[in-house]
Amino acid sequence: MAQTILITGASSGIGRAIALEYAAKGWNLALMARNKEKLTIVAEACKALQANTLISIGDVSIEADCQTFVESAQRTFGDLHVLINNAGISMRGVFKDTDLSVLKNLMDVNFWGTVNCTKHALPHLLKTKGSVVGVSSIAGFKGLPARTGYSSSKFAMQGFLESLRCENLKTGLHVLIACPGYTASSIRENALDSKGKAQGKTPLKEDKLMSAEEVAERIYQAVEGKKKYLILTIQGKLAVFINKWWPSLADRLTYNVVKKEPNSPF
Ligand SMILES: NC(=O)c1ccc[n+]([C@@H]2O[C@H](COP(=O)([O-])OP(=O)(O)OC[C@H]3O[C@@H](n4cnc5c(N)ncnc54)[C@H](OP(=O)(O)O)[C@@H]3O)[C@@H](O)[C@H]2O)c1
Repeated sequence: MAQTILITGASSGIGRAIALEYAAKGWNLALMARNKEKLTIVAEACKALQANTLISIGDVSIEADCQTFVESAQRTFGDLHVLINNAGISMRGVFKDTDLSVLKNLMDVNFWGTVNCTKHALPHLLKTKGSVVGVSSIAGFKGLPARTGYSSSKFAMQGFLESLRCENLKTGLHVLIACPGYTASSIRENALDSKGKAQGKTPLKEDKLMSAEEVAERIYQAVEGKKKYLILTIQGKLAVFINKWWPSLADRLTYNVVKKEPNSPF
């Protein structure tokens, strides 16, 4: 019988690619996001691959929406096997100039969204000895300049998931912390500026970045292999390694990368 995966933030980018990856592998899919139109298009593409697909329109920062998402997946498909906490937003702006509401918004979506969905899915995943996945970031290992809210939320997410993994050493629950490097998607267009408005365009050449499809495939393999961490891109691996052993060098290199971005605040 087909296994069931729940994916948040499935209307675009990495979440959309994960949905299509698992659809092609014959899994049942429960997909969540706020934008009904975009999520429906993704669901139709998954159904075209013969995957049983359910959509749930909701906001991960609202606990009741996460509860509804998990309960409707359970009612429709029965046992639940994998939860991918992928929904996320980013920001750009130095802390000195940034409204605190921006940082709170990032924490609500990236950290609390993960906690909310995990809380409601956990009893079902414990029953199947399934997997909880957090799509974090290299910014969850290395604090990035002009991304205080983003890095804080991803560090918090990783602390939560690592604690959860330790707590479940004897229960059979698998926890994967997946950290993509720069990946082509809408995240930088949607990133909030220091006043909380979407910045509207990306400072990077998106076509030069890792594709969302490659990230999805690597996450699929890491879940199958019950890996604890997945760190992607050469730049991402280097950032994590250098930050561990030479943190001052990592600060200088990171500052210079962000400084070179168009319209950099530095
Ligand atoms: N792209 C990168 O370079 C990169 C690198 C490292 C990590 N990541 C992480 O990868 C994850 C996916 O990002 P992406 O790059 O694929 O960006 P994206 O294309 O902007 O997708 C973000 C997804 O999250 C959903 N979302 C945002 N806020 C939500 C909320 N409050 N409730 C429910 N869903 C919400 C969006 O859907 P709706 O707008 O329809 O709600 C969308 O489906 C994020 O956690 C991000 O931090 C991305």
